[in-house]
Amino acid sequence: MCFSVRLWLHARRAPVEIEAFQPSGILTLPTIAATNIQSSRFTLEAAYAVHFLRGAFDDYAWLPDEMVPARIAVVIDENVAVAHPGLFDRIRRWAARHAPALQLIDIRTIAGGEAAKAGWPVIEDLGGWIRDHKLCRHSYLIAIGGGAVLDAVGFVAATAHRGLRLVRMPTTVLSMNDSGVGVKNGINGFGTKNFWGAFKVPDLVVCDYDFLPTLDQRTWVSGLAEAFKVGIIKDRDFLDWLCDHVCELRNREAEAEAHMIERTAQLHMAHICAGGDPFEQGTSRPLDFGHWSAHRLECLTDFSLLHGEAVAIGVALDLRYAARVRLIEKADCDRVVGALRAVGLPTTHTLLQTDFQAVWQGLDEFREHLGGELSIALPNPLGSVTNLNALDRSLVEQLAAEQP
Ligand SMILES: NC(=O)c1ccc[n+]([C@@H]2O[C@H](COP(=O)([O-])OP(=O)(O)OC[C@H]3O[C@@H](n4cnc5c(N)ncnc54)[C@H](O)[C@@H]3O)[C@@H](O)[C@H]2O)c1
Ligand SMILES: [Zn+2]
Repeated sequence: MCFSVRLWLHARRAPVEIEAFQPSGILTLPTIAATNIQSSRFTLEAAYAVHFLRGAFDDYAWLPDEMVPARIAVVIDENVAVAHPGLFDRIRRWAARHAPALQLIDIRTIAGGEAAKAGWPVIEDLGGWIRDHKLCRHSYLIAIGGGAVLDAVGFVAATAHRGLRLVRMPTTVLSMNDSGVGVKNGINGFGTKNFWGAFKVPDLVVCDYDFLPTLDQRTWVSGLAEAFKVGIIKDRDFLDWLCDHVCELRNREAEAEAHMIERTAQLHMAHICAGGDPFEQGTSRPLDFGHWSAHRLECLTDFSLLHGEAVAIGVALDLRYAARVRLIEKADCDRVVGALRAVGLPTTHTLLQTDFQAVWQGLDEFREHLGGELSIALPNPLGSVTNLNALDRSLVEQLAAEQP
């Protein structure tokens, strides 16, 4: 039998009537007396600083007075630890210089990349480590790594003891310009990206550019996808700047790198702070532009596609859709897709042609993730955003079959 029950809660102290709503007219619930109803309301205020600097462990300035004294435990992305062999010692010396205000409890590594988000074993391992070291809600976890490690450690920080303090130290372009400066954390589950997760406001974010030279070119470039994404929907001038600086960006020139990272991070943070929905209770998700197919492609390729690469493909697909339904000019679309390719990002994938149905399922997952109602962000025009409740499947399939 299929039915739904609606409750109307009337008066505060008087008995409350609970009525049954019966589309089929079958169910009748007796009227019962309910007890007193109290309501509670409070406001949460959140603030955190994001530093962009070099030589984080040569300096103490980024740790503000209100954060000390502090018990600190550090989790490092294994690949970062390998690429920066002196890192453990630098952290130990830095902590020793500031003892006893800083008490370094332990430093450890976890697997880097999507393996960090592969499921519960990593989370339980970190949980056991937290328990063994008696870390508590007043202790700080410092997470150093790419977006995947930050997502996993942030999830642990959000859930262990119902929340430890969290300092993020992103080490990739993407985690400095996007994932590391926001409030989302999570791990993958049931073949779906970020199935498990929690919102967690970090206490501090420290982006140290000295980590970036050890990134391979492919991973470095993948971080550009989120810069293009946010420019397309939020800032036309910045998007034009990106398109005009593809050579400097591809060559990882320091000035262009810093401007690209800082402006992208600013746009993400501005959306979180001023967008009115930091914990994404509504369905509109402009920052997920291009992501419905990207998340699906990552899973379907067993993460051989990097997140940023998948985003570039998703952005190119949705951008061409926007051009075809005349939300943006075709020439603008071609220019941006050309710039994505020129910096070294992919703009299509064979799965779009060979298994379109599997990719299209990403839209259902996206709908579920949003909470049932589909909302696809598209530029209208470039630099601003509109939300559609549906995409024309045959048009998407046609675009997927073309080589952009
Ligand atoms: N929480 C959010 O809001 C949010 C937003 C966007 C993306 N993400 C997530 O972020 C993840 C992608 O993050 P990413 O692009 O940073 O990739 P990543 O974390 O997968 O890192 C890529 C590779 O680079 C290695 N690495 C990291 N820093 C390095 C360094 N300095 N030198 C050498 N190697 C280094 C990593 O170990 C890994 O092998 C995805 O899981 C994605 O879903 C989360
Ligand atoms: Zn993304």
